[in-house]
Order: sequence, then C-alpha cells, then structure tokens
Amino acid sequence: MKLTFQTVVVLTGAGVSAESGLKTFRGADGWWRSYRAEQLATPEAFARDPGLVHQFYNMRRRKLLVPEIKPNRAHLALAELEQKWSGQVCLITQNVDDLHERAGSQKILHLHGELLKYRCAYCGHIDRAESDINVHDVCSSCSRPGGLRPHVVWFGEIPFFLDEISVKLSACDLFLSVGTSGNVYPAAGFVQLANSVGAHTVELNLEPTELSTVYKEKLYGRASEVVPAYVQKLLQSGHD
Ligand code: OAD
Repeated sequence: MKLTFQTVVVLTGAGVSAESGLKTFRGADGWWRSYRAEQLATPEAFARDPGLVHQFYNMRRRKLLVPEIKPNRAHLALAELEQKWSGQVCLITQNVDDLHERAGSQKILHLHGELLKYRCAYCGHIDRAESDINVHDVCSSCSRPGGLRPHVVWFGEIPFFLDEISVKLSACDLFLSVGTSGNVYPAAGFVQLANSVGAHTVELNLEPTELSTVYKEKLYGRASEVVPAYVQKLLQSGHD
C-alpha cells in the first residue's frame, strides 16, 4: 500500500500508558471503577474537599514517579514518528502523565493538563510539582498559601489547546486514535472533525470502542504491538 499522507494528528489516551503500569479510567481495574469522578475530578469536589482531591492526585503523581514506570514501545514509536516523518506530526494526549515526553516526543498538547505541574488559583502561576501538593502550600510566585491545585482539567472545565487542536485537525490527512475509549468530549469528537475534512482515520486500541464504526481503519491489540507496527509501515511507505 502506498501511503500519501503529509499531516498526521495523533490522539492518545490512558490505553497507551497501560502497559507502562498506569491504570486506565474505565478498564476492569480503572480509576473510575473504584473512585467516583464527581468526588475527585470536578471544581465542585475541590471546593468541597481540597484535601481529598489533593490526596488522589498526590497518589497518582507518586506512582508516576516510581522508577518502574517507564515509557513503553508505543510511546517510543510515536516519538520516532515525530522525529522521522518529514511532514507534520501533532501529538495530542488526554493523559496527564509525562511518558510521551520521556519517550522523546518534543511537542505534546496535553489536552487534560499535566500531573507534574501545579497552578496557583490566585496568580495563575504554573510550576513543576514533583512531590505532594497540600492544601496550605505556598505559591512560588505570589507567596500566597492555599491556592495551589493540580494543573489538570476536571470535568466541567474547558480543556487546553482547543483552538490549536482545531486548526491541526482541520489540516490533517491522517488521524490516529490510540488507547482511548472515546467516552470523553471534546476529544471523542476529534475523529468526526478529521473525517469531515477527508482525513484517513484509524483506531488503534485493545478492543473496539463505541466509536469504532466512525473510523475508516481499525487495528486491535496491545498498544505496544499495534502502534510500532503501524508507525513502521508509515515510515517505510513514506509520503508525497
Ligand atoms: P479510558 O480508561 O476511558 O479508556 C482506555 C482505553 O484504552 C480503552 O478503550 C481500553 O480498551 C484501551 N486499552 C487498555 N489497555 C490497552 C493497551 N494495552 N493497548 C491499547 N489500548 C488499551 O481512558 P481514556 O479514553 O484516556 O479525563 O479516558 C479519557 C478521559 O477520561 C481521561 O483523560 C480522564 C478520564 O476521566 C479526565 O480526568 C478529565
């Protein structure tokens, strides 16, 4: 098959990091099977009980930073695609982990924010957070205590980079969705936008999702297998 793509947009979700040892949200062992999103991942939850919300994100941040958690072959393949593809590659992730960065991807749009950053509600300052954040911690910029929150997007908040993503999607001719269940909008709608501009759309996931019928091509299996194989095929076929 001769592939003639120039501009690639990749959307990743929790499934790309599952084989690195991070839980998904809706899998058998997923976060939202044992915790309720409305108690931990909404602005209302944070206003009601900031300590509880910090605990949840502190636990996830600690887990992300243990030495055993490393990027897997899917992250590495997507970094290789960015490095070797002579057209454009835009990597959008719903994941708040930093495994794409650690794999070597340079330009990553973290639609749902980043676990390893905090934001100050008073001054808007964003900084690295590699240890626990607590309710009374002080902002490194404005020095006010009590305003730090994880720099993540909660349900009911507007995701980051939507304007830039919309421009990228409108110009793409290949859209890859990797390891996401397609339950959460606006990310779940990106495939429709890509389809509407005539892009080839591919779902790479462990199993079919509720959105599978919308994709033009589907590849099912573990991300560490299907993603490197697809990337190699793209790189070998070249483009116009
Ligand atoms: P989900 O947990 O909803 O979906 C993960 C998808 O990955 C599922 O379709 C799995 O079948 C698939 N999967 C699991 N293991 C895999 C593997 N080894 N290889 C390939 N695929 C695999 O996670 P997301 O779709 O990322 O948002 O969830 C989207 C958003 O919902 C998250 O960003 C988060 C969550 O609530 C917020 O917290 C705002």
